[in-house]
Amino acid sequence: MVEKPDEQGIHQWLDAEQFPEHLKKYWFQRFKIWQKYHEGIWMTEDSWFGVTPEPIANKIATHIAESAPKDKTIIIDAFAGVGGNAIAFARSGRWEQVFAVEKDPKTMKCAKHNAEVYGVDKKIVFHTGDCFDIVKRFMGKNNIVIFGSPPWGGTEYNADNIFDLSKMQPYSLDALYKKFSKLSKHIVLYLPRNSDLNQIARYAPEGKKVEVAHYCILGASKALCVYLGDFDFEGDAEVDGDVSASLEGPLV
Ligand SMILES: C[S@@+](CC[C@H](N)C(=O)[O-])C[C@H]1O[C@@H](n2cnc3c(N)ncnc32)[C@H](O)[C@@H]1O
Repeated sequence: MVEKPDEQGIHQWLDAEQFPEHLKKYWFQRFKIWQKYHEGIWMTEDSWFGVTPEPIANKIATHIAESAPKDKTIIIDAFAGVGGNAIAFARSGRWEQVFAVEKDPKTMKCAKHNAEVYGVDKKIVFHTGDCFDIVKRFMGKNNIVIFGSPPWGGTEYNADNIFDLSKMQPYSLDALYKKFSKLSKHIVLYLPRNSDLNQIARYAPEGKKVEVAHYCILGASKALCVYLGDFDFEGDAEVDGDVSASLEGPLV
């Protein structure tokens, strides 16, 4: 699928010389991020900073598929970006419906195209718009898991030893939780690896636990996922190829 993008701001970089200098480190990681990169993946410049690398997206998709209650049949990827997670959810085959919501139309165009590269475009329902408006449409359904990999507010999160989730931009953990928990008690958030676990623990629904899984590539933690709701994990650490996950939880 080497179809070329026909819109400014959407790119299919196939050689190093065209690749923007300030993003160079991502050029060397491109096959770690997308195994099918050479089959024509489309990206915007910004999406390199936020895309979930494929091995991690697959691992998260497996974890959610195995641990979510069986009566949850719909998954909403609220911040779909260029499709890293939504594609992995669709490929897992676990969901009756996968909804991908992305507010930026160019980024969404990349997500749709990338899903085509992976052969799962027909398995995802794409919504261009604000996830907080779109999730309202699902109100009243009780079979939904919401996954969110929100923007973290640039690369500032690397600067502090512990990342203060009340300062996450443009949506704090509190803002995300308040909006999403109106729709579902099963929420998974992909957050900086150095997120403040004490802040996360405060969002344990009454009588329930919160699990936190770190996702590592080549031994280095890349990010963590917070699992809010009745997710049922069995093992507490696993390694699969060069991606591993370890559980912190339960945090109560
Ligand atoms: C960290 S990226 C997501 C990356 C994604 N997981 C992937 O693998 O490509 C966050 C995305 O959320 C989008 N976004 C920000 N606010 C949004 C909102 N209110 N509704 C929907 N999308 C939003 C941004 O445009 C950006 O593409």
